[in-house]
Amino acid sequence: METPVNGPVESPSQLLSGDHRELDRKFEEFQATPASNMDERRERFDGFATELHRHIVVEERLLFPPFGEGDSSRRLLVELMLDEHRRIEDVLQRIRDRLDSGPRPTEDLESELVNVLWAHNTREEESVYPWFDAHLPVDVVQAVGRELHDPGAKGHGPR
Ligand SMILES: [Fe+2]
Ligand SMILES: [Fe+2]
Repeated sequence: METPVNGPVESPSQLLSGDHRELDRKFEEFQATPASNMDERRERFDGFATELHRHIVVEERLLFPPFGEGDSSRRLLVELMLDEHRRIEDVLQRIRDRLDSGPRPTEDLESELVNVLWAHNTREEESVYPWFDAHLPVDVVQAVGRELHDPGAKGHGPR
């Protein structure tokens, strides 16, 4: 029996929802680090924000275009998700700025991020990702897997 070159293929839902859980875990590690430990806090935040940015770039480049194509209600959903991505990136930047300004607490911004991210991820997992399981070509699924898991894969770094 032949072994597939790229190993077993996870479904897009499994891949992307798994990445949401991994991001949750990284964010919780950041939250668990005391404000007095500035270097470690910054390092954990940067790790989380870099991964979240990568996830967003993959969705916007490989996933949302085919999802929104040829259907006005799906296109509206894409616009909503793009808007949420911008709000998420905005809170990330404000947390980054706060961390740069000294050992100040960030709980208010953390809550803001958790609220927007939780609603966004739930919407994707319920209303968007299942569509990919039925419609996304296998080569695109493999590209998504590579780009989410391989830091050297094509993509954009954090701003
Ligand atoms: Fe997203
Ligand atoms: Fe997502």
